[in-house]
Amino acid sequence: MKRIGVLTSGGDCPGLNAVIRGAVKSSQQLGYECVGFLRGYEGLVDPVTYKQLNNKNTSGILNQGGTILGSTNKGRFVARSGVDNREELDIELLAGVKVTCEQLDIEGLVCIGGDGSLAIAQQFHEFGIPVVGVPKTIDNDLSATAYTFGFDSAVACATDALDRLHTTAAAHDRVMVLEVMGRHAGWIALHAGIAGGGDVILVPEISWNFEGVCKKIIEREQQGKHFTLVVVAEGAHLPDGGMVTRERRAENKQAALGGIGNVVAAEIQTRLGRETRCVVLGHLQRGGPPTTFDRVLATQFGAFAVDLIHRGEFGRMVCFNPPSIESVWITDAVSKLRTVDPTCSAVKAARALGISFGDCGTKGSPFAAVEKASAERPEEAEAGFVAAR
Ligand code: F6P
Repeated sequence: MKRIGVLTSGGDCPGLNAVIRGAVKSSQQLGYECVGFLRGYEGLVDPVTYKQLNNKNTSGILNQGGTILGSTNKGRFVARSGVDNREELDIELLAGVKVTCEQLDIEGLVCIGGDGSLAIAQQFHEFGIPVVGVPKTIDNDLSATAYTFGFDSAVACATDALDRLHTTAAAHDRVMVLEVMGRHAGWIALHAGIAGGGDVILVPEISWNFEGVCKKIIEREQQGKHFTLVVVAEGAHLPDGGMVTRERRAENKQAALGGIGNVVAAEIQTRLGRETRCVVLGHLQRGGPPTTFDRVLATQFGAFAVDLIHRGEFGRMVCFNPPSIESVWITDAVSKLRTVDPTCSAVKAARALGISFGDCGTKGSPFAAVEKASAERPEEAEAGFVAAR
């Protein structure tokens, strides 16, 4: 009997189990058996580790965080060393994966992962291993899909944190800084900042300075509001352009971002003498049950991935092009990060409400101001870095 293989690779996120379940149930409808490889790509070779997946052992996992297959972002399979640098996989490793697939009669492999993991899937495809990709990441930074599953759940977690910080900040007249994940994209900070009533949102895509942040805090005080919520993306650049990392890594490896929240909080306290606290939300954003949106998206992704295999459309990644689930070439999906467009409607709406992006704000209509700035600095707009000054 022909089989479909499934694996989850890279950092986990809510909704992985929903994709697995969607893939398994739909592949059984089409008459396939399903196997799940353990610990991401590692389970594919030397030693090959997998388990049979069926209706029974994928029942009741729709709402569970984590992944029943395990995952890793370390080990022998690494195809990315920086934001966009491809590292070639070892040929023997690729040959080993091909043999495993042939021996197990794998018709197609569903690789569920973020940009690094999908870059590996792309190399599998180029080597003749039948793969399809499913985009996963809380960061929502994959081009070619409007949303990755996991993002909505991470935003819900960060929004809940802001709701909680709101009341304690107000009770103590404090400035609260919430650091959220997202790597080089500010999607989580932007969406949670809007949904959780943030006053200042700092993202990698909009250059900001401490004067801008402090200005907003003082403005609020003048309006009788003696507390402020600041949301900062872990990948936001400091005013001097630097980034804060939490551990040193080899020069050619992706930096482990984190720690900017404490830097921002300390500077606010020094400059304004206001009591300031920082919360680093960290991996809480990756745990727990997926939201309903992520369950629906992940289920559709799982079923669609199996359908791609059934139709023999390998080298493709499922994507969400609202309102439809479609597919694109994996190579197109991983070639460019999708970052926040500073002129997008969410940023404009936030500015219209008086939310500061730490860039000293704008006078008059923020919509017009951002558009004017884009027109004046088209190269920056093209690179996704323009902000109203
Ligand atoms: O890509 C998902 C992500 O959670 C990022 O937002 C974060 O920077 C990174 O992974 C954390 O990775 P790790 O789990 O290796 O600390």
